Amino acid sequence: MDGVRFTLNGAAVTVTDATPQTTLLDWLRQSAHLTGTKEGCAEGDCGACTVALLDTEAPGGPTWRAINSCLVLLPQLHGQSIVTVEGLSGRREPLHPAQQIMVDKLGSQCGYCTPGVVMSLFEATYRKDLGRPWQLDDQLSGNLCRCTGYRPIREAAEAVAGTAPADGFARALQADASALPALRWVHDGAEAHVPTDFDHLFEVLAKHPDARLVAGATDVGLDVTKKGARFACMVSLHALPLRGIVRTAEGGWRIGATTRLSDLELAVQDDLPALARMLRFFGSRQIKNRGTVGGNLCNASPIGDLAPVLLALDATLVLRSAAGERRVGIDDFFLAYRKTALGVGEILAAVEIPPVPADARLSAYKVSKRREMDISAVACGLLVRVGADGLITHARFGFGGMAATPARAAAAEAAVIGQPFSAGTFAAAADASRQDFNPLSDHRGSAWYRATVASNLLKGFFHEVHSEAAPALADRPSGTLLTPSPATPHAEAAR
Ligand SMILES: Cc1cc2nc3c(=O)[nH]c(=O)nc-3n(C[C@H](O)[C@H](O)[C@H](O)COP(=O)(O)OP(=O)(O)OC[C@H]3O[C@@H](n4cnc5c(N)ncnc54)[C@H](O)[C@@H]3O)c2cc1C
Ligand code: FES
Ligand code: FES
Repeated sequence: MDGVRFTLNGAAVTVTDATPQTTLLDWLRQSAHLTGTKEGCAEGDCGACTVALLDTEAPGGPTWRAINSCLVLLPQLHGQSIVTVEGLSGRREPLHPAQQIMVDKLGSQCGYCTPGVVMSLFEATYRKDLGRPWQLDDQLSGNLCRCTGYRPIREAAEAVAGTAPADGFARALQADASALPALRWVHDGAEAHVPTDFDHLFEVLAKHPDARLVAGATDVGLDVTKKGARFACMVSLHALPLRGIVRTAEGGWRIGATTRLSDLELAVQDDLPALARMLRFFGSRQIKNRGTVGGNLCNASPIGDLAPVLLALDATLVLRSAAGERRVGIDDFFLAYRKTALGVGEILAAVEIPPVPADARLSAYKVSKRREMDISAVACGLLVRVGADGLITHARFGFGGMAATPARAAAAEAAVIGQPFSAGTFAAAADASRQDFNPLSDHRGSAWYRATVASNLLKGFFHEVHSEAAPALADRPSGTLLTPSPATPHAEAAR
């Protein structure tokens, strides 16, 4: 069938007369004339363009998710349901609680950021999993406001979060998801496909070996909005059964490639705190609601934040093509700058993480200029196993930001194996790490800075894990600490 079909503010829409790489934001403002949704940056950083998507496959059941409309390409909407700020209340209706609370708390001045903030509060209103204080900071981490100051906005979030009024938006969460028809859409010489099964996917990839795969588009979207990319053929993976997290019988994990980063963040909170820490300081809520595990690995960015932790955890990547599945260790996945072991016509289907051994000490670090919403200068995942005799038997040190690809620090690992688990051993590893990498200087940090940070992280790792195998994650970065406020009812309920 031709044309993208989706639901917008409760009404069915079919779009045929736009190029497939049109962003939802451009379409809303220019074609649907819904100008409440604002453009600030067109690159996922400001949140002015935030709308809500009905996520019918969320792990805890259907839920509303705040997303950046500037990074959604029209084919990705096929079969989806979207609400914009205009859809929250009609002219003669009372404001939605997410709007009213912004009025009550004086959360708006010039108002440019306000529709986006309201849509982030809208997600929070229906969230059932907002039980920890840091989650409120995280909920707002993708919305910039130049004039109001964040305290009233955060107070608004705290008041409305989890209140879930029994309204039409709550009822939409109960509705049965209708089966999605596959899409083949051709407009102006460009093709877009939304396959719903693997036979269809591999057929398209056989015909269009250079088709651009799109998962969350938090990277691909930037190619469109910032580099003016035009794809002759685009394939959205959103309707394929590639999402979900399963615990294996051995105690490991299998994570589908299109699993959203926010799903993973919640799933690993208690059992894999090192990965949870990395995800806590990854982009923003909106980015994590769209960005996927597969997209973060397949973009092969040297500063992608999952790879260092997955290197430490010795993950295996499951690749799938028309010929079937094959498994590649993460050590062998990144071949060169932005180049992976994926062959033509092959996709990443899942990531498998083996169980973390009981004698493992594991942590992860991200060093960036800001804690929230920033790209790493250096990131690492560090794991050692310590035998009963106090000697280190095994080490995996994964680093990002130090080379053309995410990579292990072989010399630093060799420096600790067979050595006592002590500060002296990690000081030696810190020295050895300087042989491992020859980092670049760029606007995020000089080569000297990166090498120094990497070696200091190795020393700091010992101090963090020497008494606790899995150190607790601080609730909030110190820079955003607020005066403690009484626990909200929803927070109490979730405990
Ligand atoms: C504002 C902002 C902040 C960000 N912050 C961070 C951050 O803190 N840390 C970080 O690491 N990254 C960050 N990113 C980058 C990005 O969000 C992540 O890399 C994200 O995980 C990408 O996932 P995606 O599904 O959106 O990828 P997409 O953009 O859909 O795809 C990325 C690439 O992977 C390919 N691809 C996707 N899925 C598959 C698959 N299953 N098989 C084969 N190929 C596939 C696509 O063809 C494309 O080349 C940020 C981006 C933005 C815009
Ligand atoms: S316009 Fe800034 S995040 Fe989309
Ligand atoms: S109220 Fe002006 S930018 Fe937030």
